[in-house]
Amino acid sequence: MSRTEVAVPDGTPYEDVHAGLHSEQGAFRGEHPGRAANPVVKVVDLAWLEFEKPDLDRAERFLVDFGFVVADRTPDELRLRGTWAQGPCLVIRRGPRSRYVGHAMLAASRSDLDRLARSTGGTVEDHRGGHAVRLVDPSGYEVRVVAGVPELPALAERAPLTLNFGTTTARPNVPQRPPRVAAQVQRLGHVALETTRFSAALDWYLETLGLIVSDFLFLDDLRDHGPTMAFMRCDQGGTPTDHHTLAMFLGPRTGYAHSAYQVTDLDAIATGGEFLREQGYQRVWGIGRHIQGSQIFDYWRDPDRLMFEHFADGDRFDCSVETGWSPMSTSGLAQWGPPVSRDFLGTKPNPALVAAVLRALAVDDNDIDPRTLRSLMKAMSA
Ligand SMILES: [Fe+2]
Repeated sequence: MSRTEVAVPDGTPYEDVHAGLHSEQGAFRGEHPGRAANPVVKVVDLAWLEFEKPDLDRAERFLVDFGFVVADRTPDELRLRGTWAQGPCLVIRRGPRSRYVGHAMLAASRSDLDRLARSTGGTVEDHRGGHAVRLVDPSGYEVRVVAGVPELPALAERAPLTLNFGTTTARPNVPQRPPRVAAQVQRLGHVALETTRFSAALDWYLETLGLIVSDFLFLDDLRDHGPTMAFMRCDQGGTPTDHHTLAMFLGPRTGYAHSAYQVTDLDAIATGGEFLREQGYQRVWGIGRHIQGSQIFDYWRDPDRLMFEHFADGDRFDCSVETGWSPMSTSGLAQWGPPVSRDFLGTKPNPALVAAVLRALAVDDNDIDPRTLRSLMKAMSA
């Protein structure tokens, strides 16, 4: 199945770029098919993300301003939800420092948990009213695969705006006045993670949890290296799913890059962004439209400098769409929007980054070596 044609920055139709790369990069495609032939299970979606934060009050203030609703709060735990009938999007426990702990993913059934436990040597445990198998991925993130955890009922939300297009007047005699208030988060969309062990982690998610790769990025000057970023979606057969639920890229640090939450439309992103700006929060990059996944995006920093994204209108693919291949570059991140910030790229030199680079180079059990590192830095400044 072919993809919808969209323009990339140099004006070349997206489909032509992909066709060219597919033939030019034939070796890459043969090298990694972007999906496992027989995965242990096929997870349905991300369920929630888990963080630790030293100050739950401060975390709650930002996240409510960002657009979440508090689902539950105890002295040591904060759970935040979107408007859709699902579990919580975020579980935040009190901890000594701000850190990403890991993600929970939704299994299709309880019996999938049994299969997963048998295959990984794990156990099925009771968890939040349902069941879970707790795993650790090759990068060291905790991955809880859950089933049967009760959903929260849906909340009221603003309907998408009625828009007049061209000669079609969908809104006669009615003005357009979206309120400038906190955005309403509908649901968790994806998490983006950096890892020094990209190839092992990639294969693990494909073989163990059945994710499939929507798009790979590769280093243009290191074409024998294979992919360095994967946008992975859940394989639900003929049912379309988000272009990426997990975005993972090779880098000198293993850590959280950002997580993204769906809001209803562009005006929700823009008015929600104005609201965050008025509260004194820092925009990282936005508003723009991505290339991989096509989302309209806007990135913000929380008070602990973790990045959170509002998005709307993302691509949704069923299992028939093949993996795409594109070179990694800063100009490949957006179709339109302001220039990507160094804050977003995380390439500003600082002591922590230098220490991470030295640590990654010092050990052999990862994918970072001087050659790869040089190409990554070149791609991220191109
Ligand atoms: Fe994102």
